Formats: sequence, structure tokens, C-alpha cells
Amino acid sequence: MSANPYLEGNFAPVTEEVTACDLRVTGEIPRELSGRLLRIGPNPIEKPDPAKYHWFIGNGMVHGLRLQDGRAAWYRNRWVADDAVTAFRHQPKTPGPRHGMGPGVANTNVIGHAGRTFAIVEAGGLPVELSDELDTRTYTNFEGTLPGSFTAHPKLDPDTGELHAMVYYWAWDYVQYVVVGTDGRVRKTVNVPVPGKPMIHDCAITEHYVVVFDLPCTFDVQAAMNGPFPYVWNPDYGARVGLLPRDGQGSDVRWFEVPLCYVFHPMNAYETADGQVVMDVCRHPKMFDRDKNGPNEGRPTLDRWVIDPSSGKVATETISDLGHEFPRHDERRIGKPIRFGYTGSLGDHLGIGPIYKHDLVKRTTEIHGAEAGRMFLEPVFVPRTPDAAEDDGWIMAYVYDAPSNGSEVVILHAQDFGGKPVARIHLPQRVPFGFHGNWVPDRS
Ligand SMILES: [Fe+2]
Repeated sequence: MSANPYLEGNFAPVTEEVTACDLRVTGEIPRELSGRLLRIGPNPIEKPDPAKYHWFIGNGMVHGLRLQDGRAAWYRNRWVADDAVTAFRHQPKTPGPRHGMGPGVANTNVIGHAGRTFAIVEAGGLPVELSDELDTRTYTNFEGTLPGSFTAHPKLDPDTGELHAMVYYWAWDYVQYVVVGTDGRVRKTVNVPVPGKPMIHDCAITEHYVVVFDLPCTFDVQAAMNGPFPYVWNPDYGARVGLLPRDGQGSDVRWFEVPLCYVFHPMNAYETADGQVVMDVCRHPKMFDRDKNGPNEGRPTLDRWVIDPSSGKVATETISDLGHEFPRHDERRIGKPIRFGYTGSLGDHLGIGPIYKHDLVKRTTEIHGAEAGRMFLEPVFVPRTPDAAEDDGWIMAYVYDAPSNGSEVVILHAQDFGGKPVARIHLPQRVPFGFHGNWVPDRS
């Protein structure tokens, strides 16, 4: 047994920044896919002490695949040049503001917004703007309009183009709802008081609400002093979700008790005609209890929570117990009813393997990639055309192939999920297991 599984196998960092052009492709890349498939995860620049390394703290590394005119134009991977990376390389610091303490690691998500590319992180970090070719440009607080830090999971409102974020920081006694306008400036913040210091990784929006996860994984001074990670399982804290009206104040939030658990990621949320809020979540039985180096606390299930504001109750049921994380859906439907969702697998003992497609109406689950040694990272849905129906599009995922110790990007038609990929793009090096990524289409 390794001292730290988050430094072994395909969790291990890669050591080189690579640029490769005109990659080998098996199959045919759909010509309408013109843009970049970006991904990010932790990749420590310096060899860490296994006893002191937590998967969530490694320096960020971005991987990108550029598709254009039916060809795989390039692959690149680049460290996000945080203060530890520039110090290690004896380079000048990356310009721009900082928030909080530490080296400004940005390792959790990479998004395109308003024609720009950002590496983002939660709990104190600021976004880092990258060039189209993934080189670090600057830290940003959205032209001085962001009062604190940011999140790794802003939600893009498909109707307005605004970003909605739930932000937390260990020194605050509140969490902060932040709205970033289409001009790339914060137009609104609302502080929501909380009794402790919960880790709030993600949020959800519906037509009228933003959903706040106030769950029992909280900041712990002793853990912060001992390292490597300051948030621990704290079941005495209780578990609840809040509905904050999108146009309300912090005092307008209504709280609803949910079962003791931890949720990094909701798939989506929406309101029904009779005012209930339906939300599908990847539910972990607990978080950062026994495992002090990462999130291995048992198999997360895909659950449905239905919040009834009139009764104050939350009905819960398990949709699939196969072990699900990194839930995605057609993001043109954020905050609206969805029929289809897609998840990566996270089985017992960090078992990463196939991806799943869920028909949330028929309650069926399809699987892709069950062959031994194939390990799929987060499945990203890309509509075939801007007005294509839900599920009419592509699933794109980075895949680690254990037998060859190499990686590919696989493109599937979402409506032939169990079938053969339409394209497999062979990458020049493996892409370590990490966190999140997105398809960033070329600017129109
Ligand atoms: Fe996440």
C-alpha cells in the first residue's frame, strides 16, 4: 500500500510541458467541433512529501486539445503559474491581485467566459486568466469588482449569460453569493450568514433561487495547523440546503434539513410548476473523515432531492448506487428541467472506470467504456448545433488507458452512448486524474 495513493498511478503528476500538433486520430472528428477541450487538475511542481500531500492542494496544470476543421490541431499542457510555480522556476511573479494566504494555487476548473479563459479555484483563490494557448497571463478580481475570493463552480445562466457563484473563505462567518455580469465585472454580492465554516464546493441555480449547500465538512483550526488540509468531517454540524431568492438578501434564505452526507457536485436543479425544487446530486456518505489525503470515504450515489418549500421537507431517493461523480448535463439547460445527465464513475477506493448516461425520466442508466483498464474522466456534453435537442450532441472525455499508460480524448454521440466512439484522439502523454474541464467553442 502506497503512503499516498494520490501520488501513484495516474494520480501521479507529469513532469513536462508538452506541445504537439496534428495528433493521430482513430475515426473522424465532427467538423462542427471547433474549439478547445480544456481540463485541469493538481500537478505539484515540486516532489511533495507523501505524508503531507492532499490531492486538493497541488499546483494546477491545464491540459488542452484544440479541434478545428475535423482535425486535432494541437495538445498542450501548462502549469498555472501560481506563486510557488514561479518561485520554483525563478521567474517573476504572475501579475495581478491576490486574496488570502498561500501561493494562489488555481487547480480545480477551467472555463471560458466572455471570450476569456480562466483557471479557477475555491476557498480563497482568485481566478487566473490564461491565453488561448494556456499560458498564464494574470490573476484577476474582475477589474477590482470582486470583494473576496471566487469559486471553482460558477453557474452560467443560459438566459442572461451571467455567472452565479457561491463563495466561501475560512475567515468569514458567511458565504457570499456573487453574480458576474456579461461584461466580466461583479454586479452583485449577497452575504448569507452560516453558523460554522463549511466547505461549499458548488452551488445550483433555478429560475428563482440559488441553492446553498451547508454540509458537515467544516474548517478545523487543529487540522489547519497540522496540515495538509483544513476541512474535516464534522457530523455534529448537521446538514442542510438553503434556497436563497436570486433577487433577495441574506436574511431571505430558507433552510431545509437533508441527510448527513457530503455533496461536492449537484448535477442540476430546477423548479416544478407547483413550486418544488428538484435537484440531482452525487452524495458521499461523508467527507475527509478517515482519509486525510483526499476524498476516499466510500462510494458516492446519484440521488434525487426534492425540496418542498410549503412543507419544509426534502424527499430523497437514490437513482443509481454504482458510484458516480463529476455529473454533467446539457448546460443550455442549467436551472431548467433536464431529462439526461452524464457522470463519471467513482467506485470504492477511488475506482475510476467507465462513464454513465442517465435518463432521468425513464430511470435508465447506460454505460460506456467498461473494458478493463479504461478510466474515463469527466464527461462533457457539447450540443451538435446551437439549437439541437437535449442529448443531440457529443460526449467528450479524456481517458486514461492503463495498459499503455497513455491518454486519449474520446468523442461519442450522446444518442449512441454505448456504441463505438466517433473519434479517438491519441495524446502524446498521459493526462493525470484531476478535477474538471469544459469545451470552449471558438468565438463567433
Ligand atoms: Fe468540483
